[in-house]
Amino acid sequence: MTKTIEHTVIIGGSSGIGPATARKLLGLGMKVTITGRNEDKLKSAWKSLGSAAGKAAFDAAKPDEVRQFFESLGPFDHLVLAASGGKGLGPFPTLDLSDIGSGVEEKVRPQLSCLQAALPTLNKAGSVTFISAVSAQLATPGVAGIAAINGMLLTVVPILALELKPLRVNVVAPGVIDTPWWDFLAEEQRQTIFADYAGKTPVGRVGRAEDVADAIAFLVSSGFITGQVLTCDGGLRFAA
Ligand SMILES: NC(=O)c1ccc[n+]([C@@H]2O[C@H](COP(=O)([O-])OP(=O)(O)OC[C@H]3O[C@@H](n4cnc5c(N)ncnc54)[C@H](OP(=O)(O)O)[C@@H]3O)[C@@H](O)[C@H]2O)c1
Repeated sequence: MTKTIEHTVIIGGSSGIGPATARKLLGLGMKVTITGRNEDKLKSAWKSLGSAAGKAAFDAAKPDEVRQFFESLGPFDHLVLAASGGKGLGPFPTLDLSDIGSGVEEKVRPQLSCLQAALPTLNKAGSVTFISAVSAQLATPGVAGIAAINGMLLTVVPILALELKPLRVNVVAPGVIDTPWWDFLAEEQRQTIFADYAGKTPVGRVGRAEDVADAIAFLVSSGFITGQVLTCDGGLRFAA
């Protein structure tokens, strides 16, 4: 009997964790489509995958573009929501509270909007995997804003796992991962911060995009797991 090839769509697939996940899933024999806003970035990620994936450039924060993408894509099996957002870091007394609203618009709303638009064509026997962040699980000064944003995604997952059943709904909470997400820092500052986190992290290093890709691939292919948070942080949550 021929095995059906499952198709995974990765929103935010042009940089960091997204393309690493695409590589992992392609290696498992899946069909993959990656998306992002910047066409050049997307093309370069697509080339790095040996042109083996499908690709589509659109803005996940724009509902019309999201709807158009899923309508033209047709049926598929798994959705990975890796679109980024970096707002909300910094000490609470001086935190610009409007960053929390912007962070929701940049990260939470696009992830939820993609899932909503995908529902008519997403295989109910498949899965959705959100990407939150370990900041929502850490009692560490300076992360209240980003924790508030990412915490929303942790909160909705068990609810959606019940409401959208039998579709499996899970979330990965990455720790500090060396990806272009950190490009807002100068190289020297980035290396100092990574060395500091590596020292605090039980496994003794910061994460790689491939570490998170392994966690996502596990959830995508584990047919009896739903409503779960998989923290992928080298143990930072218990040590920071
Ligand atoms: N790296 C870390 O330390 C870390 C830690 C915890 C959680 N996370 C989370 O992990 C996820 C992936 O992060 P990453 O480290 O891989 O970041 P990244 O390298 O900055 O990649 C982000 C990806 O999202 C895409 N994207 C952003 N906004 C989008 C939009 N509105 N529409 C479509 N695509 C969009 C980007 O492409 P375009 O710019 O071309 O749109 C890019 O492909 C994010 O949710 C991030 O918050 C990362």
